[in-house]
Amino acid sequence: MTGLRIAVVPGDGIGVEVIREACAVLDAVAKASGREIGLTPFDWSADTYLETGVSMPKDGLKMLAGSFDAILLGAMGDPRVPDNRHAVDILLGMRFGLDLYVNHRPVKLLDARLCPLKGAEPKDVDFVVFRENTEGLYVMMGGNFKKGTPDEVATDIDLNTRKGVERIIRHAFEFARATGRKKLVMSDKSNVLIHAHDLWQRTFKEVKAEFPEITASHMYVDNLSLQLVRDPKQFDVIVTSNMFGDIVTDIAAGLQGGLGMAASGNIHPGKISLFEPVHGSSPPIAGKNIANPIGAISTAALMLDHLGWTEEAARIDAAVADGVRASETTADVGGSLGTREAAAAILRRLA
Ligand code: NAD
Ligand code: IPM
Ligand code: MN
Repeated sequence: MTGLRIAVVPGDGIGVEVIREACAVLDAVAKASGREIGLTPFDWSADTYLETGVSMPKDGLKMLAGSFDAILLGAMGDPRVPDNRHAVDILLGMRFGLDLYVNHRPVKLLDARLCPLKGAEPKDVDFVVFRENTEGLYVMMGGNFKKGTPDEVATDIDLNTRKGVERIIRHAFEFARATGRKKLVMSDKSNVLIHAHDLWQRTFKEVKAEFPEITASHMYVDNLSLQLVRDPKQFDVIVTSNMFGDIVTDIAAGLQGGLGMAASGNIHPGKISLFEPVHGSSPPIAGKNIANPIGAISTAALMLDHLGWTEEAARIDAAVADGVRASETTADVGGSLGTREAAAAILRRLA
């Protein structure tokens, strides 16, 4: 089998619009290189959930793992589902159920005009955040006591395991070694979370000893948030916990021009993995041909690169960067085009 089999889950809101364009880009790049990419759509979304009561079919994860090379997802979230049930079942369902412990979020400024920082150049914003993706505050353990009364108690447990912490830290170091990146920052809040983040500290010290060629340091997450906007060029590789990683990658997206520019992969090395833009479903701008498709298109490139289609991935990245430099973009990054037209500008460069 020389082709790729991709499961496509557009999801909700702008997810549908940006994934349509990412799929067009995948078709175009496959055609140009004479290779095959099979795209199989799945309608797992708020619409389907509200209509049928089913968020993801029972055998969904098994089917994905058995029949596809990767999953491309748009976004999950809809105001008609206030408890976010379908998103929890589908998105977190895949992250946890497929044990996608690496959330890989590259941060790269494509053009100086996109960065809100004075004087920042593309060379100053070029790093990768590794976010732990299967535990921490996302495990949904906890509960309510005396719910709805003045005496209510509510808890969410921050669960950290030695195995979970070690494998994400090790992955970040291995990535740095493999890609020639020289600096790694581990970020936590061990000055307050004296149990869970002490585990991060101890594990970090052990793992870093195996990578003497990499300059490894530590930063509390509050300081990391400041340093990211004060002087992003000091960063090369960052590794952090699930919730902190969620927050700092939105800050990092801001450095690239906004959420519309940011790509991500949810990865279990050697197993089926899930790729999605960092942004959500953005209900207020959905269905208006406004959403920036670049986050989703760069996500498709990240997916191809992960699957070994490095030339095709590089071609997409180059077409995106070229379109950005020519300002053939949506309004969120200073252009005047719609979603379809901004994607068409990239497709033209791929033809
Ligand atoms: P959001 O990412 O949808 O939007 C945040 C801001 O960024 C908004 O101003 C939005 O207009 C802007 N934005 C985001 N993507 C953009 C794009 N491609 N082009 C132009 N502007 C863009 O986050 P939110 O508003 O906090 O959440 C909306 C819904 O999405 C919620 O239900 C949330 O739970 C969900 N969500 C899902 C994912 C996911 O599926 N991975 C990620 C984040 C949020
Ligand atoms: C993200 C999103 C998700 C997260 C939400 C939708 C559960 O914000 O992928 O960054 O918090 O991980
Ligand atoms: Mn997020």
